[in-house]
Amino acid sequence: MLAMGMPFSTSAADNNLPQMGESAPGANAKASLAKDAVCTRCHDESETAPVLSLYQTKHGVRGDARTPNCQSCHGESEKHLKGDPNVKGRPQPDVVFKKGAYEPSDDKTRAGQCLTCHKGGARSNWDGGQHQNNQVACNNCHTVHAPADKILNKKTQTEVCFTCHKEQRADTHKISTHPIQAGKVVCADCHNPHGSAGPKLMKRNTVTETCYTCHAEKRGPLLFEHQPVNEDCTNCHTPHGSNIAPLLRSRPPFLCQECHDGAHASGTPAGPNSAGNQNGLAISPSANITGRACLNCHSVIHGSNSPAGGFLQR
Ligand code: HEC
Ligand code: HEC
Ligand code: HEC
Ligand code: HEC
Ligand code: HEC
Ligand code: HEC
Ligand code: HEC
Ligand code: HEC
Ligand code: HEC
Ligand code: HEC
Repeated sequence: MLAMGMPFSTSAADNNLPQMGESAPGANAKASLAKDAVCTRCHDESETAPVLSLYQTKHGVRGDARTPNCQSCHGESEKHLKGDPNVKGRPQPDVVFKKGAYEPSDDKTRAGQCLTCHKGGARSNWDGGQHQNNQVACNNCHTVHAPADKILNKKTQTEVCFTCHKEQRADTHKISTHPIQAGKVVCADCHNPHGSAGPKLMKRNTVTETCYTCHAEKRGPLLFEHQPVNEDCTNCHTPHGSNIAPLLRSRPPFLCQECHDGAHASGTPAGPNSAGNQNGLAISPSANITGRACLNCHSVIHGSNSPAGGFLQR
């Protein structure tokens, strides 16, 4: 096992200095490995799956008293250890995470094992979250017996999410996208996959607050605000990808006309949803439907701080 590299490395021990009243890291490590030996006497390097790679991960930092043993995750598994004379073959361990020799345990049992240690923090809203509600458990995203857990690395995280979310994968190949394929923006920059107090597993409480974490310049208060911007960026934008740049839900003027469906008037204002008044059209229809349409004049669509910036024109 030492050949695998990690368990007794001094750096690991240094980072995990024992708390008051705890025994020395060396003693912890020994006690911990002795516990694992209950299982590792059979499950060793000869396994087809790399079970002992666990020791190259944070779950294998043997100086740390909080470190799990095989049984903290798989359960005491007494029947598996001793065999059951009434059962043909070896009975399964208490908790099986992945289909192999045995059927996996149900999602709540699997997640429950991990949550004995990882309940708070980012996972405070796990219960009732969209993943928990739809039979997704921790190990549907996380891999424990591997030197690197793909989901924790920005370069490989999206691969894991895309195995289930094909629609979002397709979106990231459209003309206008967040640089998701390039690995610069990843799913977990906007979503908390463990559950959220906000909609759609947003990392912050609202979509807009989440967008502001990177697009802070769009945050008000501004002298002249455009109401739908403060409400929800997705009134106009789609986050994962669109064929209309920049990340627009539809093309202006149609996008604008979803809300501004009255006649455009000079002197006779045609605000949102006002009854169609055809008399006062100030601009020719062709100016509306070509190029940047409404944006030719209303160029500061997110709001303006210019004293002359009413009507979002500068
Ligand atoms: C932190 C929780 C955790 C600990 C500790 C743990 N396991 Fe696992 N085990 C899992 C999960 C999750 C899987 C599913 C595959 C994966 O994530 O790598 C698994 C899979 C397995 C498998 C099936 C191999 C496979 O990949 O299908 C075996 C055998 C196994 N564990 C044995 C052990 C032994 C022996 C130990 C102690 C050295 C141990 N486990 C410690 C969580 C754990
Ligand atoms: C006496 C030997 C022995 C001991 C001790 C033992 N196992 Fe097993 N384990 C087996 C055998 C045999 C299988 C059947 C699967 C196979 O053929 O690899 C198995 C299967 C498993 C599997 C499913 C692997 C898969 O590929 O689906 C897990 C998980 C597992 N054991 C965990 C544990 C844990 C955790 C412990 C300690 C509590 C433990 N085992 C102790 C012999 C043992
Ligand atoms: C007995 C307690 C315990 C159990 C059970 C447990 N873990 Fe952990 N886990 C830890 C500790 C301790 C760390 C290291 C924390 C640190 O370094 O701050 C950790 C770290 C992690 C990390 C971060 C790894 C990294 O490289 O940053 C992930 C992900 C994780 N655990 C997932 C799981 C999953 C999934 C399960 C269930 C299959 C599980 N844990 C079960 C104690 C546990
Ligand atoms: C839908 C995929 C997914 C599921 C399901 C999932 N995780 Fe995670 N987990 C992630 C991602 C992505 C990150 C990285 C988060 C980041 O970079 O902000 C992460 C990070 C972590 C971390 C390390 C960082 C931290 O928050 O402390 C731990 C520990 C962890 N998860 C435990 C769990 C446990 C326990 C469960 C089950 C209750 C679970 N995860 C279920 C995707 C998932
Ligand atoms: C094992 C399959 C699986 C994996 C892997 C997975 N998800 Fe999910 N996800 C689901 C299921 C099932 C649902 C609930 C049904 C639905 O809304 O599609 C869901 C729901 C969601 C939702 C909420 C949808 C809504 O309508 O509220 C978001 C956001 C999400 N997942 C993001 C992610 C992210 C980000 C990752 C990677 C970190 C990820 N998922 C990984 C299966 C998965
Ligand atoms: C820039 C922020 C951002 C990033 C990055 C991001 N999302 Fe989203 N996602 C959102 C917002 C906002 C919504 C809700 C609005 C919507 O449905 O368009 C959403 C909705 C979802 C939904 C629910 C779909 C639906 O139609 O309701 C899923 C599933 C999802 N995202 C998965 C992912 C996955 C997987 C990734 C990584 C490849 C990802 N997201 C990256 C912001 C983001
Ligand atoms: C993690 C940081 C991050 C978050 C969170 C984020 N963005 Fe972005 N956004 C970026 C980056 C990086 C770019 C690319 C900038 C560039 O290419 O110059 C970008 C570009 C954009 C663009 C312009 C796209 C183009 O084709 O020019 C729009 C529109 C946008 N984001 C909207 C949003 C919305 C809406 C949200 C919230 C749902 C959001 N962003 C959340 C980082 C983020
Ligand atoms: C009323 C519709 C609308 C809403 C709501 C909206 N945007 Fe935009 N956004 C646009 C349009 C139209 C453009 C293209 C402007 C152009 O081409 O001059 C744009 C461009 C962008 C750009 C790229 C150019 C730039 O200005 O930096 C980013 C980033 C952006 N929006 C972020 C956001 C964020 C973040 C929110 C929410 C706080 C938001 N948008 C809400 C319509 C909107
Ligand atoms: C989701 C609905 C919605 C969309 C889409 C939308 N707007 Fe608005 N817009 C509003 C609301 C609500 C107001 C505030 C009306 C009021 O104060 O009476 C407003 C106000 C305005 C104003 C007047 C600002 C002022 O200072 O009085 C202009 C100009 C405007 N929008 C242009 C646009 C353009 C151009 C687009 C397309 C890029 C657009 N809007 C898309 C809802 C929307
Ligand atoms: C040729 C320049 C120009 C174009 C193109 C243009 N507008 Fe305007 N718009 C203005 C001016 C100037 C005002 C100032 C108020 C006025 O004079 O009535 C205005 C005012 C507005 C107002 C607020 C006042 C009112 O009439 O309710 C809204 C909403 C608006 N425009 C929406 C749009 C939409 C939606 C489009 C695209 C379909 C558009 N505008 C295209 C120049 C333009």
